[in-house]
Amino acid sequence: MRDSVPHNQGDVVKALILAGGFATRLRPLSCTRPKTLFPIVNKPLLQWIFERLSKDGIDEAILAVNALTKFYIKQTKIPKQGLKIKFSVDPPKKPLGTGGPIKKAEKLLGRSEPFIVLNGDIYAEIDYKKLLETHKKTKALATIALCKVEDPCSFGVVELEENKIRRFVEKPARGQAPSDLINAGAYVLDPEVFDYIPKGKHISIERDVFPKIVEQGRLSGLIIEGLWKDIGKPQEYLEANKAVLDTIKNTKKDEKTCFKVNSPSALDKDVSIGEKSVIGPYAIVGRNVKIGKCVSISNSIILSDTEICDYATIKGAIIGEGAHIGESAKINNGCVVGDKVKIKDKVQLNEKTKVCPAKEINF
Ligand code: GTP
Repeated sequence: MRDSVPHNQGDVVKALILAGGFATRLRPLSCTRPKTLFPIVNKPLLQWIFERLSKDGIDEAILAVNALTKFYIKQTKIPKQGLKIKFSVDPPKKPLGTGGPIKKAEKLLGRSEPFIVLNGDIYAEIDYKKLLETHKKTKALATIALCKVEDPCSFGVVELEENKIRRFVEKPARGQAPSDLINAGAYVLDPEVFDYIPKGKHISIERDVFPKIVEQGRLSGLIIEGLWKDIGKPQEYLEANKAVLDTIKNTKKDEKTCFKVNSPSALDKDVSIGEKSVIGPYAIVGRNVKIGKCVSISNSIILSDTEICDYATIKGAIIGEGAHIGESAKINNGCVVGDKVKIKDKVQLNEKTKVCPAKEINF
């Protein structure tokens, strides 16, 4: 059900989703899909984002992408949830960073109303209505959603007083963070921000724009309460899946099976499991995965169309789409196996091994 957000009558509320980065830290899985299409509990992250925007009454989502990301997104056919979807494409071979795409989309966003900008690589239960309200109330130029974390040093960290941000420090050195409140990667921006971003340049909104707005005392912040997960690195991607799984707990229960599914786990459609296999806890298994007998899978994500043969063990790993894991193979903690990889029988992958797409591993 869609709610309405605070805006002038007749104006549409727009959100720009930044989704044209290269996701280098998520290789090899990002060699074959953009970050925003990584499944979170068997549903593309972008679908979760569309659902939340739509629920909060946003009318239009503009995807800031590169040509390849656009191709993948169009191919995936994500339900639009009543949103109008548009694309703003970075120039060929010229990534624009996290700020340049905002300027690039100026015409599509328009200059009449504040708009939302969000990173397409975060799972966040943000109340966008509240963020827009805070922005209007504080008359800020930009309002950032803020999230409390234990270790803030790999993010943009703020010093907050009431709703006003006094300092914004991008990735501070250890011990130098002004608080535990970080930029959650979602903002409301006033159209005046377009004047702070040069055209056609690679600009970082965090390093090049926010510090200038802070200096003028026009940067606001709103602390968000819900679940917030960045999926930038493989371990974070796995943790995000586990955290979301904890909120939905949709383990298929079938008492009469000859295999065991430990909760919480999520099995998508058409998953087959052989006898005496133990799946979970925290096994997230995509569509059409075939699991043999006496297989053990825990704390892992298995993407769709993969085959896992008898007696294989997968622990704390991520296995790409259409992969083949041979009989008695062992895939250990932190391993990331690309799409269409073939792991032969009895192969053991050491911890944190990464295998590029379509490789064959024989020993
Ligand atoms: P790494 O290479 O692993 O650092 O990832 P990234 O550069 O893809 O992501 P980063 O966390 O730096 O960016 C935050 C968000 O901005 C992500 O949703 C990216 O897809 C997006 N983004 C980053 N660079 C660009 C860009 O040049 N153009 C566009 N359109 N989006 C970008």
